[in-house]
Amino acid sequence: MAKAYTVVDHAYDCVVVGAGGAGLRAAVGMVEAGLKVACLTKVYPTRSHTVAAQGGINAALGNMSEDDWRYHMFDTVKGSDWLGDQDAIEYMTKNAPAAVYELEHYGVPFSRTADGRIYQRAFGGQSVRFGEAQAYRTCAAADRTGHALLHTLFQQALKHRVEFYHEYFALDLLMDEEGACRGVIALCIEDGSIHRFRAHLTCLATGGYGRVYFACTSAHTCTGDGNAMVLRAGLPLQDMEFVQFHPTGIYGAGCLITEGARGEGGFLTNRNGERFMERYAPKAKDLASRDVVSRAMIIEINEGRGCGPNGDYIELHLEHLPASVIHERLPGIAETARIFAGVDVTKEPIPVVPTCHYNMGGIPTNWRTEVIGPRNGDVEAVVPGLLAVGEAACTSVHGANRLGGNSLIDLVVFGRAAAEQAAARIKPGSPHKPLPRDAGEAAIARVDRLRHADGGLRTGEIRLAMQRTMQRYANVFRDGPTLDEGARKLDEVAKSLADIRLEDRSLVWNSDLIEALELENLMLQAVATLHAARFRTESRGAHAREDYPERDDENWLVHTLVWVDERFQVRFAKRPVHLHPLTNEVEPFPPQKRVY
Ligand code: FUM
Repeated sequence: MAKAYTVVDHAYDCVVVGAGGAGLRAAVGMVEAGLKVACLTKVYPTRSHTVAAQGGINAALGNMSEDDWRYHMFDTVKGSDWLGDQDAIEYMTKNAPAAVYELEHYGVPFSRTADGRIYQRAFGGQSVRFGEAQAYRTCAAADRTGHALLHTLFQQALKHRVEFYHEYFALDLLMDEEGACRGVIALCIEDGSIHRFRAHLTCLATGGYGRVYFACTSAHTCTGDGNAMVLRAGLPLQDMEFVQFHPTGIYGAGCLITEGARGEGGFLTNRNGERFMERYAPKAKDLASRDVVSRAMIIEINEGRGCGPNGDYIELHLEHLPASVIHERLPGIAETARIFAGVDVTKEPIPVVPTCHYNMGGIPTNWRTEVIGPRNGDVEAVVPGLLAVGEAACTSVHGANRLGGNSLIDLVVFGRAAAEQAAARIKPGSPHKPLPRDAGEAAIARVDRLRHADGGLRTGEIRLAMQRTMQRYANVFRDGPTLDEGARKLDEVAKSLADIRLEDRSLVWNSDLIEALELENLMLQAVATLHAARFRTESRGAHAREDYPERDDENWLVHTLVWVDERFQVRFAKRPVHLHPLTNEVEPFPPQKRVY
């Protein structure tokens, strides 16, 4: 072990990595079960990206229209373009109402109806009676739902005395010879000390990796660190080709304008002032599923009907809405539009473009949140000691395309499920087996190598090259030649990591080092995403191949598993989609043509 590093050992029943909605909900439940829990987070918990969620959280409460969790399940399966696992989707949608009431009781300040019930708005891809009419299912705290939820869960975590390790950067999983996870090794950003956390269960709640793109709604911290740790442990990621582009990111700035804006009556127009969504989705119009709206916007722009001097954006109109709707339901986006687009939403439209927003792919898990991967001929063998939740996980409830409002519900339903797993499996305070002798040494060697890296390229230069390559070659529409060229370019960019140069060589608050570690993590996932997009020769959900425009259930009604090694070599396998629900309370939803 490199001598400069102080190594501190800790032992917990459970370690949760990440303090967004999923991590906090898991940690609270684990403590409630009497377990000793550490929560590691690279930023202060209230800075986790859950804070940025705007429009709301889906649950079939039926406060504004009739509703039923089976309608929510159907919409989610259809939204996923049938790639979602129906057992996990049943679990999420059935448990959603209880999860929202639990949040209400924890203290989330939801907006209210006149008679005091939780306010629910319309969101894309939602229906009642299996597609018959628009549903109102998205429970909202104005347009700052994630902020309200995150702060409330953090207060619960403090009340329950979760032991936080703030500003600790998780480096790697501690795996044993039998392939079980025994904890995690992390770097304390403040003083550069190294910490090994032993745990009977490690729960990854590290979020998505939106920052592989140049334009995204994700925070700078969204670098998918847990996903990369899984790849370095020799385990696969799943469905990485499915990246969600949110229709309404502010042109040029990338900031999110919530789908709730369209849910409250906003609409999109092209340069002719035409409400073009009526052509693409005659029934749902502006509230079609996100992948459908984003593709329509790009077609309008590509066919010369984009707005502005360069014809490269679409306009989102809210000017016709009563001022009370803006003030009560959409105050945050009115402010965002003013600051980032210079637009007064009561007077003029907001310029918007589809912007990278969410990763459907991630760490494969079953509905119990256990991480799975092929072993000894079993394609769904459980990795002992390892759970994953939230955007880091591919459970898979979102399949090929996530519905708006289903991310926050995923966080809390599966955060709770992870806690239930821990409660069922761990006797508080039970002893730990000794760690393998070399546990964590590779991670320390990596920190040491990077800290002294003396090449010719700065972290930001390599990151920009990666982001521009992903933006250009793995966007809303893809095709074989473009993906091939993108893969060649990205492989070159990945190789250039060997020529990285760090300016700061200290161990104390070395943000240069943290950014370089994050970049290594991002690069593994960029490579996984672009190569997985080449691998899947069909169009499904958010993965739209112009050379394979149809969905191909015969060959591709499967999840893709992808491994990326330290030399960026990629390999693939497939895993069947679970087409059957968990119980007989609902019939399976067999694949159909997906129209809105
Ligand atoms: O548009 C939005 O408010 C985003 C919500 C989501 O991604 O779930």
